[in-house]
Amino acid sequence: MRYLTFALGKGRLAYQTLELFERVGINCEEMKNKDTRKLIFTNEELKLRFFLAKGPDVPTYVEYGAADIGIVGKDTILEEGRKLYEVLDLGYGKCRMCVCGPESAGELLKHNQQIRVATKYPNIAKDYFYNKKHQTVEIIKLNGSIELAPIVGLSEVIVDIVETGSTLKENGLQVLEEVCPLSARMVVNQVSMRMENERITRLIQDLKSALPKA
Ligand code: PRP
Repeated sequence: MRYLTFALGKGRLAYQTLELFERVGINCEEMKNKDTRKLIFTNEELKLRFFLAKGPDVPTYVEYGAADIGIVGKDTILEEGRKLYEVLDLGYGKCRMCVCGPESAGELLKHNQQIRVATKYPNIAKDYFYNKKHQTVEIIKLNGSIELAPIVGLSEVIVDIVETGSTLKENGLQVLEEVCPLSARMVVNQVSMRMENERITRLIQDLKSALPKA
């Protein structure tokens, strides 16, 4: 039997994924050690391999088949636009992609004004403004702390993830429009889905029955 390889997005999602995997009898104790500099972990009896990668790199590993399976946020899947199968909504990591800004920016959105939009997700922002809203905007790519942009006058609004809403609130900003709901998803390489169909289908079934009922 060949190894099935999993790419997990680093951070909060990875820990919840490891917990979920434990519930279906897939253990990878070694991976929970935060001090290790090791990059790849093996479960010999189940013939599984796991590695952690930066979220946006997970769809890349999966599209090229370097990983058979990836666990990553829907935001990253949409932004990266890779060729892969999205097979399961894992339900955790729930949040929303939103257009946010000061209350006053609401008017600019309504009147289709030419505005600047700062975001870590230029493709999602483009798709939303150009294809859904048919509004011409200038997209400014940032890499983090997006909420700063409207405060210091880099942009009128942002497109960003809102979870609890406390970052917005503490910075005098609010949700102006909702783009889409987000959560952790399982993605599969298109060739692996055919070649390892039985193993992957069984894994999806096991994970499904271990998920809390929606
Ligand atoms: C994310 C997001 C918001 C915040 C939302 O940032 O970009 O800033 O979390 O969470 P909240 O609604 O619960 O306040 P993250 O912490 O991932 O860091 P970043 O600013 O570097 O993107």
